[in-house]
Amino acid sequence: MKNPYGKVVFLTGASSGIGQACAKTLAEEGFYVYGGSRRGGENTLFESGGFITMLKVDVTSTPSVEEAVKQILAEQGRIDILINCAGIGISGAVEDCTGEDGLEQMNTNYAGILRTVRAVLPQMRERRNGLIINIGSVGGIFSIPFQTLYSSSKYAVEALTEGLRIELKPFSVRASLIEPGDVKTGFTAARRFTQASKTTAYGDEFRHAIAQMEHDEQNGADPSLIVRSILKTIRSKNPPVRRVPGLMYKVFVFLKRILPARTVEWILTLMYPKSSK
Ligand SMILES: NC(=O)c1ccc[n+]([C@@H]2O[C@H](COP(=O)([O-])OP(=O)(O)OC[C@H]3O[C@@H](n4cnc5c(N)ncnc54)[C@H](OP(=O)(O)O)[C@@H]3O)[C@@H](O)[C@H]2O)c1
Repeated sequence: MKNPYGKVVFLTGASSGIGQACAKTLAEEGFYVYGGSRRGGENTLFESGGFITMLKVDVTSTPSVEEAVKQILAEQGRIDILINCAGIGISGAVEDCTGEDGLEQMNTNYAGILRTVRAVLPQMRERRNGLIINIGSVGGIFSIPFQTLYSSSKYAVEALTEGLRIELKPFSVRASLIEPGDVKTGFTAARRFTQASKTTAYGDEFRHAIAQMEHDEQNGADPSLIVRSILKTIRSKNPPVRRVPGLMYKVFVFLKRILPARTVEWILTLMYPKSSK
């Protein structure tokens, strides 16, 4: 696949879900994919000449990220594309979330991106070419009740990417967001709950909202839908600020722009109903 950046990709969150599907598709297209995740995984060579090399990387650790980038640069001399896909979801009513819970959520989903961006950017700036794709979420446009920490982290990813784009313009390095809605991945099983959720005062509202989210995720899109948007971004020399895969979510995001905030809030309240189904 022709693209304006090059073949060497560093992709975090490559051991599962969207990241795993993306790593496979890119390697089939001939890309040299270095996939990072805490658990690592098997290396694979593809007929296209592309490959996936799995690295054990924890995005909450600066030395771990720096070590991975050092290895890729030693082997390839460059990183053309960074895809930040690693992410976790911590659920709980805001009242049931400690400051530490908030920091933990931000440490992976937000500071994790900061770490990889800082590690790859010097060589991209010097070469005056490169692409950074951050996987945000529709939850970074609408705050999802009882998943508010997660939404906060994804709102932060929006801000980071929007500012980064402008800062990088003089160096011809691009940054762009992909904002999935519900996708069927390991995210549901990996969801964590805050300690205080066990005895929450938000009883039924909390349980039903979580059940609704889990249902929506497990009946959500195939990761390939998101991968197609990532490929479009990789093919474009001047990618848009954000891509929202799927018509339904495009409509939601459009409505958020045009409707009064109270109306949006009312719709969200209806989406996470109090009573059991
Ligand atoms: N699924 C959805 O409905 C949905 C919707 C919108 C946005 N997203 C976003 O899409 C991205 C991918 O999620 P997914 O749905 O594919 O979930 P997933 O199947 O749970 O995959 C998450 C990936 O992140 C990695 N990861 C988590 N913490 C990490 C850490 N500290 N360091 C390195 N890697 C770490 C995991 O690998 P290890 O456990 O091996 O570290 C795994 O490979 C996330 O940013 C998520 O927020 C998902």
